[in-house]
Amino acid sequence: MKAAVMREANKPLSIEEVTISKPGPREVLVRLKAIGVCHSDVHFWDGNFPTEMPVILGHESAGVVEQVGSMVSAVKPGDHVISILSPFCGVCEYCLTGHMSVCHTVNGDQFKRRPDEAPRLSIGKEKVGQFLNLSSFAEQILVHENALCAIDKDMPLDRACLIGCGVITGVGSVFHSAQVEPGSTVAVIGCGGVGLAAINGAAIAGASRIIAVDLSPEKLQLATRFGATDTVNPKNGNAIEAVKELTKGGVHYSFECVGSKQTAELAYHMLRPRGVATIIGMISPGVNIEIPGIELLVTEKRLQGAVMGSNRFRIDFPRFVDLYRQGKLHLDDLISDRIGLDGITGAMQNLKNNKGTVARQVVVLD
Ligand SMILES: NC(=O)c1ccc[n+]([C@@H]2O[C@H](COP(=O)([O-])OP(=O)(O)OC[C@H]3O[C@@H](n4cnc5c(N)ncnc54)[C@H](O)[C@@H]3O)[C@@H](O)[C@H]2O)c1
Ligand SMILES: [Zn+2]
Ligand SMILES: [Zn+2]
Repeated sequence: MKAAVMREANKPLSIEEVTISKPGPREVLVRLKAIGVCHSDVHFWDGNFPTEMPVILGHESAGVVEQVGSMVSAVKPGDHVISILSPFCGVCEYCLTGHMSVCHTVNGDQFKRRPDEAPRLSIGKEKVGQFLNLSSFAEQILVHENALCAIDKDMPLDRACLIGCGVITGVGSVFHSAQVEPGSTVAVIGCGGVGLAAINGAAIAGASRIIAVDLSPEKLQLATRFGATDTVNPKNGNAIEAVKELTKGGVHYSFECVGSKQTAELAYHMLRPRGVATIIGMISPGVNIEIPGIELLVTEKRLQGAVMGSNRFRIDFPRFVDLYRQGKLHLDDLISDRIGLDGITGAMQNLKNNKGTVARQVVVLD
């Protein structure tokens, strides 16, 4: 199969012929139809986060099941599926208490092949790394069955793929991690694929005021299509003061969807007392966030992280498909470009440059 292979940071990915193994007992081979390009791919491509090489990046995908292993029960050949980078084991403390999105961070090895087994991906004798249990910038993926969720076949796969990372992360953070209530006020910092989904989620949850914060006027304009009631550009003045004025003292919930110290601290400072800031963006290793310690006591503000929208994806994904069909989840507006495998390097460059006209760029395969 063909895949976009990364051999060096910041260099163009090369389209290469890659050997993908046959499914082991709990593995599934999926022919991909659509793959979104997320800023998390960029964090590994530009060397900010370490990764083995060669590697195939990509982790927001949807496709059709081709072959299943002998013990697979979750999906069957012909099923349309969305993948996720947070598979679950089903038996650990996190899974059994309903926090399955955390499972892969402690039990990651059991979703991979052991070092003494043949690798899932290779080129000749060379092993190719599987990124985040998926490696979706490719025609096929070979994954653990618990990294997949079947969906109805009438759901267009180019929109379905977005649910697998950006949308579950943004909407899930609102529904599950922060549990935004109707009538509350929300600020979302960073209006890319993830932030726009968080704004959309806040609108569905019934937030009374949704403030989009971004440096790009085009992104702020786009955010209003997803439900933002107000926009704030930090380039035009003090964003904390602007949000406090709009909400008479600060928001109930803020979501950081950029991945920097500065925006994480901004998310905290624009809260009202008892407010909750949820950090979604990937902050580079070694970077610490600073907040005044005494404020936690005096204001009862809270700062929390969220991985993959604290998802329960086998429940969430079919529900999100329904929300799309009801016209509530604006997946069509999230796609700014459709590209081929050879367009991924340019797409990542656009995200790195914060190109204002770019939301989600989606690789579409026949
Ligand atoms: N927690 C998770 O599980 C999870 C999942 C997916 C993505 N992420 C992370 O979420 C972040 C956002 O991902 P994305 O794909 O939406 O990225 P994106 O590049 O599409 O969007 C980022 C947005 O932030 C804006 N921005 C940049 N600097 C800013 C600043 N200083 N102030 C305000 N806005 C600013 C940009 O204009 C852009 O609109 C990334 O760090 C990504 O790695 C985390
Ligand atoms: Zn992602
Ligand atoms: Zn588990």
